[in-house]
Amino acid sequence: MKTVKKNILIINGSLGGAIGNTSVLIESAQKYLGQHEANIDILHLEENQNDLKNKLSWADGFIFTSGTYWDSWGSPMQRFLETCTQYEASDLFLYKPASVMITMHSVGGKGVLSRLQGVLNTMGLAIPPMSGLVYSLSSHLAFSLNKDQTPSDFSNDFWSLEDIEIVVHNLMTAVHHKHDFKCWPVDRKDPQRRWL
Ligand SMILES: Cc1cc2nc3c(=O)[nH]c(=O)nc-3n(C[C@H](O)[C@H](O)[C@H](O)COP(=O)(O)O)c2cc1C
Repeated sequence: MKTVKKNILIINGSLGGAIGNTSVLIESAQKYLGQHEANIDILHLEENQNDLKNKLSWADGFIFTSGTYWDSWGSPMQRFLETCTQYEASDLFLYKPASVMITMHSVGGKGVLSRLQGVLNTMGLAIPPMSGLVYSLSSHLAFSLNKDQTPSDFSNDFWSLEDIEIVVHNLMTAVHHKHDFKCWPVDRKDPQRRWL
């Protein structure tokens, strides 16, 4: 039986909009969404916040993205949340799954991820397991090779761009009302090991 195509709206609240750092995560998510045969629309809030009601109504699921700016999401995302307060607990949001992906240089992004997931859930959206990720300049640098060209083994415990595949998989699993969620690798053996 052919799966029904689902509509995924990517809502980017970054200051950098379509040409910022966060847009690289969006490109990657688009690639993985293609494997799930989803219909995709992208809303760069920095450039356009028109026709929100129709766009939200069209979506079966969402990916929210933002950079980190002074420990918070971008002002375009804040404006979006303020505008959309009128749709809280309405059919535009209620029970629809939402993933969140945040970029940052080094600190603050996990707080942004957790708080944004909390706000979205309060508005009525469903947050699937392992569907939120923070990608930082510091982990990007950690993925670089050691002097002897071997990869740093600390990199195993950082979110990577490849983990966007799991974010998208878990979003689409939830959108299709399935329960086949995936987990990314975590450092279970020695989370307390010295790094300094
Ligand atoms: C005004 C401003 C404030 C920032 N504040 C933080 C911060 O608090 N923590 C951090 O790790 N990175 C911070 N950054 C870096 C951005 O989060 C990072 O470059 C992000 O990828 C920007 O996304 P964008 O290019 O899509 O806008 C800041 C950048 C700007 C422009």
